[in-house]
Amino acid sequence: PEGKLQLVQRHVRAFPDFPKKGILFRDICPILKSPAALTAVTDLFEEHVRSHQLQVDLIVGLDARGFLFGPLLAQRLGVGFVLVRKKGKLPGATVSVAYDLEYGSAEVEIQEDAVAPGQKVLIIDDLLATGGTLLAACELMKRQQADIQGCMVVIELRDLKGADRLKPHNIFSLLQY
Ligand code: PRP
Repeated sequence: PEGKLQLVQRHVRAFPDFPKKGILFRDICPILKSPAALTAVTDLFEEHVRSHQLQVDLIVGLDARGFLFGPLLAQRLGVGFVLVRKKGKLPGATVSVAYDLEYGSAEVEIQEDAVAPGQKVLIIDDLLATGGTLLAACELMKRQQADIQGCMVVIELRDLKGADRLKPHNIFSLLQY
């Protein structure tokens, strides 16, 4: 029978030259369209947390595709979910961190009261490329004095060495390309 990981892998598509020439875009939309594949992603994330005995008070998801996987895992673990959004989307007092993109820069933000000092957080996104986005999220968590347990992604693009940039934080990925 097909394993969970193979099932997930079968539901990732590659699009050449998107969003620009030379980039091979890994598309996770088929995972979301398949209840079995989405359950497999959640199962594999949950199994990692439990087998490594990670202590988690909150799941922190990254805008936008971290929002698709994070709440499912949070429900499994019986913990809350917090949003790291692109700047300007959240009401009330916020904390933000700027980070560099290939061209220009971007900024991510959370609500100031989203995480309490000392809370154990696990950060979730769909994909790790250069690591800039997750690094900015980790910086936000440090400003909140959160205790970062690690980062989890569905897909890791190994050539871009994002995991090196994120050291010493633990990175767990389901699929590596
Ligand atoms: C993609 C992806 C990650 C990020 C990874 O998001 O979903 O969040 O890029 O890249 P990095 O490791 O080089 O930082 P994108 O910036 O396309 O934003 P979106 O999810 O809002 O579409």
